[in-house]
Amino acid sequence: MRLAGAIFSNVTKMLDFYSQFNPSPLSIKQFIDFGLNACESKSFLFLRKELPVRLANIMKEIALLPENLLRMPSVGLVNQWYERSFEEIIQFEQMEPDPPILSSFCERLVHIRNRHADVVQTMAQGVLELKESHEVDPSTENSIQYFLDRFYMSRISIRMLINQHTLLFGEQIGPRQASVTGIGSGGRHIGSIDPACDVAAVVRDAYENARFLCDRYYLASPELQLLQDGVPSQGPMPIVYVPSHLYHMLFELFKNSMRAVMETHEDCPPPITVNLVRGQEDVSVKLSDRGGGIPRSVSDLLFKYMYSTAPQPSKSDAHTVPLAGYGYGLPISRLYARYFHGDLMLMSCEGHGTDAVIYLKALSNEANELLPVFNRTSTKFYRPVTQLADWSGSLNTSNSQCKNRDKVSPLSSPVSHSL
Ligand SMILES: Nc1ncnc2c1ncn2[C@@H]1O[C@H](COP(=O)(O)OP(=O)(O)O)[C@@H](O)[C@H]1O
Ligand SMILES: [Mg+2]
Repeated sequence: MRLAGAIFSNVTKMLDFYSQFNPSPLSIKQFIDFGLNACESKSFLFLRKELPVRLANIMKEIALLPENLLRMPSVGLVNQWYERSFEEIIQFEQMEPDPPILSSFCERLVHIRNRHADVVQTMAQGVLELKESHEVDPSTENSIQYFLDRFYMSRISIRMLINQHTLLFGEQIGPRQASVTGIGSGGRHIGSIDPACDVAAVVRDAYENARFLCDRYYLASPELQLLQDGVPSQGPMPIVYVPSHLYHMLFELFKNSMRAVMETHEDCPPPITVNLVRGQEDVSVKLSDRGGGIPRSVSDLLFKYMYSTAPQPSKSDAHTVPLAGYGYGLPISRLYARYFHGDLMLMSCEGHGTDAVIYLKALSNEANELLPVFNRTSTKFYRPVTQLADWSGSLNTSNSQCKNRDKVSPLSSPVSHSL
């Protein structure tokens, strides 16, 4: 008992210690340079500090969540996973980077990645548990939204670090990459980064997979019209990027557009047009659909976790289709875009259709990780505040979430968050 107490207080101390450091963001170029001159012990020395720093920074924010959310069983579970993983990594703190230690570190990372595979769904479940058992006021709602963006972004970044290390130094190379990206991968990959990631190929791949779901549900699907700078796409459009991230965003956007198009056009669905453009700073991927658009009154809700016009999945679906209609597609996709300092925006004309644009940094040295930092500023966002309207008629619709739920559709389910 006393030993358990001692370990606990030691971990608490270590958490305080590591949370004082800011995470060190890396650019895609740095990931690549490091991968090309790969040195396992250097990576070990970096990660055994950087991973606890990133974990501690976000764990401090978990601790600031409203009491009643922290008491939800799923949130408790997520918390335990984080505590255990943090403890496991700091055990390597004083170890020499000898081959047996390096291989046990690599195994530990794989283990941690597996442990955290269901974090997105489980945290989503925790928020649902809160909403089902408590009245959630707008201020708490805002804190949760603020937290989830930071929490999921932190998770994307931690998985990126773990994936790079295990892909570069672990045993399974080739086949794993092919399955992660969903597209054929040559030997050119550096961990999960493709230095010549063909945006056009990823668009086609995401389209085909979304179309498969669409055909199954609606027995028809819109065609794809792929353009480069406004004219029919011919050659590849290479960019230095993580193909699995790009695929994730495109797959979500295609599912949304297909659902909208099929709901508004029973026969002869108009095509979805994708225009790829490379500028000096940005590579832009614009998807345009004629799916009837989105009214302005709900445009503020699109990136809210759990906003969906698809029906909430019943508890019995929870195992088969995780997050179906939970409304996580857009907010998580935007995090992937922002992770390397890109963005994702929607522009809609109600009655006509929607344009969604993914912006990516054209230059790999500008594609820096965007990471949450725990400090006084972030702490402020977790304090409850009563918002008073400072414009007439404002603060009106922000909580009318999950209204207008209509037909069940597999296209409304972000399927994989295990990147
Ligand atoms: N292209 C689009 N056309 C019309 N509505 C859209 C489009 N994209 C997203 N939406 C609306 O935004 C909501 C949230 O989308 P998303 O975050 O992907 O969650 P989900 O697809 O699970 O509902 C959708 O339910 C839909 O109402
Ligand atoms: Mg969706």
